[in-house]
Amino acid sequence: MADGAMKSPLVQVRGLKMHFPIHAGLLRRKVGAVKAVDGVSFDIFEGETLGLVGESGCGKSTVGRALLRLYELTEGSVVIDGEDIATLAPDALRKKRPTMQMVFQDPQASLNPRMTVAAIIGEPLDEHTGWDAAKKTARVYELMDQVGLNRRFANRYPHEFSGGQRQRIGIARALALNPKFIVCDEPIAALDVSIQAQVVNLLEDLQDRLGLTYLFISHDLSMVRHIADRVAVMYLGQIAELSPREALYARPLHPYAEALLSAVPEPDPTMESRRQRIILKGDVPSPANPPKGCNFCTRCPKVMAVCREVEPRLAEVEPGRFVACHLFDNNAGGQASPGAEVREHNQQGEQR
Ligand SMILES: Nc1ncnc2c1ncn2[C@@H]1O[C@H](COP(=O)(O)OP(=O)(O)OP(=O)(O)O)[C@@H](O)[C@H]1O
Ligand SMILES: [Mg+2]
Repeated sequence: MADGAMKSPLVQVRGLKMHFPIHAGLLRRKVGAVKAVDGVSFDIFEGETLGLVGESGCGKSTVGRALLRLYELTEGSVVIDGEDIATLAPDALRKKRPTMQMVFQDPQASLNPRMTVAAIIGEPLDEHTGWDAAKKTARVYELMDQVGLNRRFANRYPHEFSGGQRQRIGIARALALNPKFIVCDEPIAALDVSIQAQVVNLLEDLQDRLGLTYLFISHDLSMVRHIADRVAVMYLGQIAELSPREALYARPLHPYAEALLSAVPEPDPTMESRRQRIILKGDVPSPANPPKGCNFCTRCPKVMAVCREVEPRLAEVEPGRFVACHLFDNNAGGQASPGAEVREHNQQGEQR
């Protein structure tokens, strides 16, 4: 989808927290919590690809899984197509499941080795439709065509395929029930570089044809630049910046986004010769014990006194650009915008 041509949000996340309890001692008492996701708010527009990037352990997969309610959320709401899936009762959630699916990183691990390709792709149809065998087979063939798998392979087993083909099987299964929203969690990270572009092209092609909306989680900042319309940069369980792709890569606003993106090679040789890599000092703090104030204050090259005291809110500092950083406090005057709601959910820091 073209930048800027935003439709209505299909996914609205507000104040999402996902804390995993830490138990210790003989009695397994709860002694703390890993704050894997600690208050994130964002929208994903219909037909859009939102990229989600950040260092290992910053909470990307946890966000993806929480959005599909593969976890019980600690706090917050996730409205998908008008329904808050955080509070749906089991029956309603089951009915909702077909509309939201996941494509996993490791197709090897996510496909049952004892099932044929046809059985794997058709499994969601067994669970959610009462179709007879002929109708199911027809749909399985249609799905195999859509993802570029030869129908002749329908009765083979996953181990007979290459990594790229296995990922196609995973994608076909995710598409079986006509989902609207797909979380792609590092869908190409386990594939050979030569195969990665093919799978990404397939995902883009399917998006165009089927009108899909993606959350695309990846370490690969160059690939995200290629596929995403907008990009959210996460650090230690929170969103540091969420901006349209071009604006973010050309001029990241949040100091963490700036450091992260400084590692990405520039396609333009003159820009590349001017690129300066920002190396951050120190380690990422533990998500069980994040710093007071801004969670990036212990490593930020531009840290100020206020950063160690007050948690910055994610606010719209330029049209369409959301940043959680005190450097931009003056710009974030209270204009009414989609960000207004986002701001409300990030104010705990100021109330402390
Ligand atoms: N089920 C769980 N129980 C306890 N802690 C968890 C659980 N799942 C994730 N975590 C912790 O939550 C934090 C975020 O993990 P998550 O897997 O979401 O990160 P990520 O950004 O996807 O990392 P990667 O890039 O390595 O995939 C990590 O500190 C992780 O150890
Ligand atoms: Mg992950």
